[in-house]
Amino acid sequence: MGTQFTNESISSLSADWLVIGLAESAPLSTTVAQLDETLNGLISRLIESEDFTGKLATTASLLGLTEIKTPRVLLVGLGPDAEVSLASLEKAMMTAARTISTKQNTTAAVLIPELENKSLSTEQLSSVLTSAMTVGSVGQDLYRQEAARFPFQDLLIVGTEAADQSACQQAVERGRILGDSVNLAREVVNRPAADIYPVSFANRVEDVSKEYGLESEILDENQLKQEKMGSMLAVAQGSDQPPRLAILKHTGADPSAPTLAFVGKGVTFDSGGLSLKPSDGMKTMKCDMGGAAAVLGAMTAIARLKLPVNVIGYMGLVENMVNGSSYKLGDVLTARNGKTIEVLNTDAEGRLVLADVLALAVDRGASNIIDLATLTGACVVALGEEVTGVFSNNTDWSKAVQNAAKNSGEDVWEMPMFPQFGEQLKSDVADLKNIGTRWGGAITAAKFLENFISETPWVHLDIAGPAFAAANLPHREGGGTGCMVKTLVEVAGQYPTSK
Ligand code: BES
Ligand code: MN
Ligand code: ZN
Repeated sequence: MGTQFTNESISSLSADWLVIGLAESAPLSTTVAQLDETLNGLISRLIESEDFTGKLATTASLLGLTEIKTPRVLLVGLGPDAEVSLASLEKAMMTAARTISTKQNTTAAVLIPELENKSLSTEQLSSVLTSAMTVGSVGQDLYRQEAARFPFQDLLIVGTEAADQSACQQAVERGRILGDSVNLAREVVNRPAADIYPVSFANRVEDVSKEYGLESEILDENQLKQEKMGSMLAVAQGSDQPPRLAILKHTGADPSAPTLAFVGKGVTFDSGGLSLKPSDGMKTMKCDMGGAAAVLGAMTAIARLKLPVNVIGYMGLVENMVNGSSYKLGDVLTARNGKTIEVLNTDAEGRLVLADVLALAVDRGASNIIDLATLTGACVVALGEEVTGVFSNNTDWSKAVQNAAKNSGEDVWEMPMFPQFGEQLKSDVADLKNIGTRWGGAITAAKFLENFISETPWVHLDIAGPAFAAANLPHREGGGTGCMVKTLVEVAGQYPTSK
């Protein structure tokens, strides 16, 4: 059966769980009121006794039911009706998914909530319910003998007769694709550096390209040399693992249409290099390819959705390590675009990788660029662990990306690009140095990148905070989060399909 929309009545639904989202102190919808009656008023009694309040992402389980075919109902709070948004719904439904996905072969049915607040369409609700259930039911179980969480065997999104059946089915399919793509990004982030290194990441890219009909191209170290990517190669030279540049291409529109380029930082492990990180800072650095993972996830979704646009995803894959050939402080590198860079900290490696990959994307005719990178601890200091920093050279393009993030329920915040931050990057011996002062470090990093995009409308997303979650929470699993996958797909969906 898989994942699908249905307007079957609740009494005849056969599933292991029925999930019902209820807003705080809102009257029960007709459907839920009928169910309440069938259950002899159980739901209204729980509300009456305040055992269930509808507060956001709180739950109550009704177990062992015999009055309906589904033996279990999970009530999940949506918060105040007027405040329900994509982000709050996602939080509620992720919590629900995490509550009911602890057994194998579970069939889950989720009722589309009937809200007073009509800011979200039934189709949007169908899609976010599906993606949240798809993401929330997958845990960090890759390396456990006994999994803690199991993807649903079947997922039913339940609407009323009034719902547009085919539009809702389409929305459910879109939600499923988005959820799968987020899960793919999470998976590659969650795999440690012993499993995911540049060559194995590139192999995964090739597998995915075959599976979903994307064109792929992998550049090895010799080709990177030919392409004059001296900045990226310097980072790679301290590792036994050779670098790769993986490229995925989706041609959904006429070749004359503009090209959207995604560029992901793919540092499969960041030890800091000779500017070695202390243990505490290094322990999560398998996540430093979160940008490349987001690009990979988004490209699969764009292909599966057959979006009528031209998109190229670039993933710059290197390992930042220490050996006898490591790049050193004081080294002067020549990037692809000819600019020279004095290395004053080998832990500011992400910008060195992106410099060359951005320049290549420009040379290959990108009309608009979005790069994604777990770039700076400073961005986490500025915006916290759950907000992506936005940096841009172009107001319209930045607004388009921020709007897509909003429509995807992902939190982003724009940071200033004042020229004085760029001044900090002046070197005594080269065109640029790779670090500025301590202050405003996320912005100096962005100003550094700006040297490699010519005049192309460009947005840099610093995902150092949101790409990786330190711990499990009720509404999300720790580890890779797949952040920005949905936003990238949304940007592509809004992108011009012709000149
Ligand atoms: N990969 C790190 C940034 C990072 C920090 C990602 C925390 C995720 C969580 C990046 O390569 C780095 O080391 N940045 C340095 C830059 C500094 C040397 C200018 C940093 O943030 O300390
Ligand atoms: Mn680093
Ligand atoms: Zn890094």
